[in-house]
Amino acid sequence: MKNTTTIGFIGAGNMAYAIISGLINTGISTQQIKISDTSESLLSSRKAEFGLDTFTDNAQLALQCEVIVLAVKPQALSTVCRQLQGAISANTLIISIAAGVRSGDINRWLGDKNAIVRVMPNTPALLNQGISGLFANEFANEAQQQMATDILSSVGECLWVAEEGLLDAVTALSGSGPAYFFLMIESMTKAGAALGLDEKTAERLSIKTALGASMMASAGEDSACELRKKVTSKNGTTQAAIESFQDQDFEVVVTHAMRAAFDRAGKLAIELSDLD
Ligand SMILES: NC(=O)c1ccc[n+]([C@@H]2O[C@H](COP(=O)([O-])OP(=O)(O)OC[C@H]3O[C@@H](n4cnc5c(N)ncnc54)[C@H](OP(=O)(O)O)[C@@H]3O)[C@@H](O)[C@H]2O)c1
Repeated sequence: MKNTTTIGFIGAGNMAYAIISGLINTGISTQQIKISDTSESLLSSRKAEFGLDTFTDNAQLALQCEVIVLAVKPQALSTVCRQLQGAISANTLIISIAAGVRSGDINRWLGDKNAIVRVMPNTPALLNQGISGLFANEFANEAQQQMATDILSSVGECLWVAEEGLLDAVTALSGSGPAYFFLMIESMTKAGAALGLDEKTAERLSIKTALGASMMASAGEDSACELRKKVTSKNGTTQAAIESFQDQDFEVVVTHAMRAAFDRAGKLAIELSDLD
């Protein structure tokens, strides 16, 4: 990304904060970043922390930016897009991190054929450990796609999908996924306590086990399946637990849960499309 590219964030909440922090950590100048929000107190605290230009008028921000990151809740997006009509040029790249809102709806609300990259980030982005799924519409050129990668890779990894509908699968996997691991940590903590450990010890053992296992899988020397087999000795304790999981169709439970998230993402997209 050029060191003159100006990036405007509409919505100064949690996700915008994470991405702005990531961009500044990667060496982007604070003069390249502008931010708007309805909350003046939130803008003041972002200005105090980063020294950014702030706006309460989204169109005024858009007039000064080559890239606009839509970081408001999905329900606010149609209003924001209508405010931007006439304030963006044909070369402006729109990056939407709003869950579920389709690029066709964003362009309908903007009233033009804009280059749009939709992103599904996840909460570990707050710790620079995120992973995002990205999709570019037909108007986003290669340089604009690269800009989106540059921006989102400041808070974690980026993986592109070829069809917009696949973002619903990304939502069901990595978007909602942190909560699945939190549930696993909660369940293992409760089960450890039921086996006699005190709650704090059980929780710490669960958390560090999840982190260590994830780091081993991330190292990529062995697949998760190979790692599981390596730590599962014949007739050992791990085998007893894995067989119990399998007897209760653990994979089917996970598949059903992710299908439910996928179906909900599709329904939400339809509900959000009807917002105008
Ligand atoms: N957090 C996550 O884990 C996560 C993961 C994936 C995707 N996302 C997506 O990221 C987006 C932002 O999420 P977030 O957690 O950062 O939300 P957030 O903390 O609520 O931030 C959104 C901000 O936008 C402001 N806002 C509302 N209407 C506005 C308007 N018309 N113009 C300018 N600003 C306006 C809000 O102000 P008020 O509070 O006063 O309304 C709020 O400060 C959402 O669309 C969400 O779907 C989030």
